[in-house]
Amino acid sequence: GQNNLNAKLVLLGDMGAGKSSLVIRFVKGQFLEFQESTIGAAFFSQSVSVNNATVKFEIWDTAGQERYHSLAPMYYRGAAAAIIVYDITSSDSFGRAKKWVQELQKQGNPNMVMALAGNKCDLEDKRNVTAEEARIYADENGLFFLETSAKTAVNVNDIFYEIAKRLPRA
Ligand code: GTP
Ligand code: MG
Repeated sequence: GQNNLNAKLVLLGDMGAGKSSLVIRFVKGQFLEFQESTIGAAFFSQSVSVNNATVKFEIWDTAGQERYHSLAPMYYRGAAAAIIVYDITSSDSFGRAKKWVQELQKQGNPNMVMALAGNKCDLEDKRNVTAEEARIYADENGLFFLETSAKTAVNVNDIFYEIAKRLPRA
């Protein structure tokens, strides 16, 4: 019915940023210290209830390794939402996240709901990207921003719920 919505969601970001870990935390409530690097892409689904509606996310967890970059359009094409993930301990991963945002702005669905996740926020002592600079960048580019930790679960469900709330309703 009109209260149910299927939404394709893609995760993009540098290798090792924690895309798979975020999805596995969200879908299975688990975390692995030695999560294997994704080959190609992996598919998951999970439903959330918001405002009397059920949103069923069809989640594509892409591989961050550069050699898989050319596959990414298959996963973000037609996606209703994207989570661009970086690692707060890596400035390079933040730079890579900005490149993904640019690519989505050029080639993605113009109505896509985009979230920026500054992951590994449990590693405060190794931080190299401030929340302030990421928030400014996100505001300038129309993304919403949360720092997350797949390890401690901080803000993980929240980022998916926030996306579900922002999806356009039929
Ligand atoms: P690719 O599949 O290669 O693109 O990487 P990915 O973005 O899926 O990263 P993945 O989830 O495989 O995580 C990489 C490593 O970071 C793993 O060893 C995880 O255990 C670790 N990791 C992921 N999220 C967190 C986090 O929030 N905190 C900490 N401390 N470690 C994390
Ligand atoms: Mg992965």
